Amino acid sequence: MQKVAIVTGASSGIGKANVELLLKEKIHVIAFARNIEKIEAVKKEFKPLTKNANLDFVIGDLSNNKSTHQAGQDLVDFVNKKYNGQLDILMNVAGRVTSGYHENEDGNEITFATNHLSVFILTYYLTPLLKKAKDPRVLVVSSLSHYRASINWNNIQNKKCYNILKAYKRSKLYNVFFVKEYARKFKDIPIFAIDPGLVKTEIGGKNTTGLARFAWNLRKSGGTDVYYPSKFMVDVALKPEYKALSGHYIKEGKSIPSNKITYNEEHAKRLWSYSESLTQIDFK
Ligand SMILES: NC(=O)c1ccc[n+]([C@@H]2O[C@H](COP(=O)([O-])OP(=O)(O)OC[C@H]3O[C@@H](n4cnc5c(N)ncnc54)[C@H](OP(=O)(O)O)[C@@H]3O)[C@@H](O)[C@H]2O)c1
Repeated sequence: MQKVAIVTGASSGIGKANVELLLKEKIHVIAFARNIEKIEAVKKEFKPLTKNANLDFVIGDLSNNKSTHQAGQDLVDFVNKKYNGQLDILMNVAGRVTSGYHENEDGNEITFATNHLSVFILTYYLTPLLKKAKDPRVLVVSSLSHYRASINWNNIQNKKCYNILKAYKRSKLYNVFFVKEYARKFKDIPIFAIDPGLVKTEIGGKNTTGLARFAWNLRKSGGTDVYYPSKFMVDVALKPEYKALSGHYIKEGKSIPSNKITYNEEHAKRLWSYSESLTQIDFK
């Protein structure tokens, strides 16, 4: 039976490359994105790849609780309707970098909400479907920057003294905590934190201003193309040897140690409970 994958952040960059490579592997893809024009462009570009695998889009926004709960429900409904509840792969790729402090309507800092809480909520909704799969895999895109992040329980969302880099790298640290705690809780669903390395995408030019945008445009020129991390991500999603590496941090297809603090279970459990309370989810 052909596998079914959900990919978020599917309208550009690493997510879009993953959609392409999964279709080439003849995997049905449910792509999640927010921008209709970009969705139409991706559909058109990948049409030749849809002879042997389906490409569908579910549209939504991952920046606040209400729309992300809706996204989770819409994805579940779509999988139930089109694939009779079959879901094999979940790739959480969507993310942002944000100049200046911005709160969403829930009162959460927007980078924290998009990069961490949305992963928490979507994975919660899709876990019951993944549980039924023969060989399920969940990927969460973290970042090299998480090594330079710390955890401060008095300022978990960077509400005090907001700094663009601190907020981003902390959100990517929380991705690793999430992966490790999920692996402990859901032993039958392998999950991986992915370090894509430095990749030439537009992420640092989207919600940024001035110096941050300028610095990203300089920095990204040293990055790889989007297919470089995506090739490894597709391997992690498909190859049997990764099954035993649940909870690991993977770079270029290899398991490497993550930031030392990510091995602290107390922090991971506390972040999990905090995320449950912010999202009104009982994630067991
Ligand atoms: N590029 C790098 O060097 C690098 C390094 C380490 C980690 N990463 C991570 O890799 C992931 C993909 O980033 P990228 O570099 O490929 O950049 P990108 O092209 O900007 O991709 C980010 C994706 O997330 C989507 N997105 C952002 N906010 C959203 C929201 N509120 N609702 C729904 N979708 C939303 C974007 O949609 P739009 O197309 O509509 O903007 C886009 O498709 C991110 O998690 C990023 O943190 C990137």
